[in-house]
Amino acid sequence: MPFTPIDNILTGRFTGKKVNIRGWVYRKRESKDIIFIVIRDESGVVQCPVKKNTKAWNDAEKVTIESSVTLSGTVREDARAPGGFEIATDNLEIIGLSEVFPIAKDKSEEFLRDVRHLWLRSRKMNTIMKIRAEVLEFINEYFKKKNFVQVSPPMFITSAVEGGSTLFGVKYFDDDMYLTQSAQLHLEVLIYSLEKVYCVAPSFRAEKSRTIRHLAEFWHVESEEAFSTLDDLMRLEEQLVSYVCRNTAKKCKKELEALGLDPKELLKIKAPFPKITYTDAIERLTKKGFKIQWGEDFGFNEERALTEEVAGPLFVYAYPKKIKAFYVKAYPDKPELVMSADLIAPRIGELATGGARVDDKEELLQNLEAFGLRPEDYEWYVDLRKYGTVPHTGFGMGVERLLAWILNLESVMDTIPFPRTTRRSYP
Ligand code: 4AD
Ligand code: MG
Repeated sequence: MPFTPIDNILTGRFTGKKVNIRGWVYRKRESKDIIFIVIRDESGVVQCPVKKNTKAWNDAEKVTIESSVTLSGTVREDARAPGGFEIATDNLEIIGLSEVFPIAKDKSEEFLRDVRHLWLRSRKMNTIMKIRAEVLEFINEYFKKKNFVQVSPPMFITSAVEGGSTLFGVKYFDDDMYLTQSAQLHLEVLIYSLEKVYCVAPSFRAEKSRTIRHLAEFWHVESEEAFSTLDDLMRLEEQLVSYVCRNTAKKCKKELEALGLDPKELLKIKAPFPKITYTDAIERLTKKGFKIQWGEDFGFNEERALTEEVAGPLFVYAYPKKIKAFYVKAYPDKPELVMSADLIAPRIGELATGGARVDDKEELLQNLEAFGLRPEDYEWYVDLRKYGTVPHTGFGMGVERLLAWILNLESVMDTIPFPRTTRRSYP
């Protein structure tokens, strides 16, 4: 007889029928004449009572939490059982008897991260990982619908994209190289062939900051589009985020509810998102009592304050040139401002940064000099402005930030199976 996934049993389709299941012991409660074993598999948990004087009794007495087992019995409805069904056990077989499992109730977040390789078995992590997989799927679907070509950028790079202070250096045969901070510059190359490209790939940042939103290794959704404007870009981003929220609400209803979330809240996230200029944002913050000056970058608290009155994310655009990167294009009539937009979400703050790229060779060379970068390190990037340059825009969004916001999680660390931070590179 084949093995039945537990969630199928919980639909009621198997009531009165014999089933085989396999999985791990999630809970165990013993009394004199009956042992309640709760089994979990990938799909759910089900209670399996074992009666005294049955064939399964000896193994049921012996079995420990997290042991791997196969079990067979008859499904019956029982309102007291979690999920409303249970399996009256005939047979239990232990595949791998577990030693005393180190995770019991009420362990600290810190401890759970130390034993991440075991904590990933929890229902909570199981659910988050499933939603993560769906969200990645929705991102791919969205770009496909918009005719973007998925491309695969390199991880080893020779020069910084986002400033030297967060670069990870690596030995590359006899040379020194870096791990990429962003695929942006390589995506820009590809638009001269494919016009619209995107990737979902790891980015690396030697972030010293220990915050709820910084990882040393994160998954980065990035796109570049030829012949596009900043308005086109913001539309693309808000539609992508709305698409992901809508589909997560529809297709991950059960998972969201298991995490205590209301899928309806996600359906409220709809494009277009509010948009304000950096200068207006400074004014708003000043009114709220922040001591921030025009020309300063926003920190976490400023970003949170800006989203206080809105239910979903908002764009801040038209930033001072000096707080954005060398590749961002200036407004022709206001050279101190650049066509850059940050997408900021409640609680988590910055979700994405994007903008129009410098497409003029002279402007790019001036910026490289002004930012103290060596033009020889960016030769191929400058070449793109020599041979048929086009106006173009692009953005980058951290998958973990998107998920932490959607799932209302404490930290980006809970959205990725094996978080890497300043303090954590194990397991
Ligand atoms: O704002 P950032 O640094 O912008 C870029 O890298 C651009 N080159 C992207 C582009 O235009 N293609 O990073 C983009 C996004 C951030 O908004 C954030 O969501 C995420 O990447 N991010 C991080 N996520 C987790 N941990 C970190 N240390 C992150 N640094 C950036
Ligand atoms: Mg940014």
